[in-house]
Amino acid sequence: MDSNNRRLLDNHNHYARAFDVFCKYSSKHEILSKWAEEVFPKVVVEKLSKGLVEGGTKLRTLGIGSASGFMDCKLISCILRKFPDVCSTIVEPMLSYIDRFKENAAEESLLSVEWHWNQTMWQQYYDDLTLTDIPSTKFHFVSSIHSLYYIPNLEKTIKEFLACLEDGGILLLILSSDYSDVRRFPKRCQLPDENFFNQKNAEDIKQVLKTLSIPFETTRVESFVDITPCFDSNNKDGQMLFDFLMQEVHFHFNKSPIVIEDILKRLSEPDLTSTVDGKTMLRNDWEAIVIQKKQEI
Ligand SMILES: C[S@@+](CC[C@H](N)C(=O)[O-])C[C@H]1O[C@@H](n2cnc3c(N)ncnc32)[C@H](O)[C@@H]1O
Repeated sequence: MDSNNRRLLDNHNHYARAFDVFCKYSSKHEILSKWAEEVFPKVVVEKLSKGLVEGGTKLRTLGIGSASGFMDCKLISCILRKFPDVCSTIVEPMLSYIDRFKENAAEESLLSVEWHWNQTMWQQYYDDLTLTDIPSTKFHFVSSIHSLYYIPNLEKTIKEFLACLEDGGILLLILSSDYSDVRRFPKRCQLPDENFFNQKNAEDIKQVLKTLSIPFETTRVESFVDITPCFDSNNKDGQMLFDFLMQEVHFHFNKSPIVIEDILKRLSEPDLTSTVDGKTMLRNDWEAIVIQKKQEI
């Protein structure tokens, strides 16, 4: 595999394995679940007016980059308590994730949901949509959870998300907060061009929204990932974690031991990680940004 083919995102099976390992060592799922139960009903569901579905229409939701649907299923469960009729469209490029999503969606509490899965990238989905008829396919709730890192042209994408939203509908964007900063890695550390530390973050979204004069609300949530296995070169989980952090397949095997040692040295410095019960914890806070499209009266 040459360096051009090592981009993690282009290797679907490897991406899914690396992301699973990342989730196993991070507090991501636990914290997202808590957020979905405690905060989501207040910042999103309460604000969706019952009037949106007058006349027996279903509440239409759109999830972008949903992977296996862990988070989407939680959010839709909350929405169902207020809106019992939901139609949910999912845009996810990886087939294996769509298959896993279908298994997750088979759970009893979600059986009433009408699902539409699209195995494609956002850009393709939106282009196809504009060829048809956006007004008849607008949504009341649109979410992109930890997927905007991978979609090019942030401003254009946010405008497209908003174009798909009904008046009074809500857009939820979740992304890492701006603490992750490649500038905190000394230049001598040889990281791939795209990696966990220099991807887009919530600050970039907020800048776009301010430029477009779009009001938003935001909540910041503390989260950590245990990167201890990265320090054991024989640990398979450590190798996968490294691949997810560097967004490159077999990062460990393709770099010289000196490069790896340099990165690990940096990763163990106290301004980037902390040591808790002998574990090296990398801070991975994220932010939820909520935008409600103004309802015309
Ligand atoms: C970090 S995962 C997040 C998954 C899930 N939303 C979660 O938070 O657990 C990123 C997801 O974005 C998807 N993705 C990558 N590029 C995309 C694109 N251009 N359009 C839509 N989704 C994309 C990936 O396939 C992957 O499922």
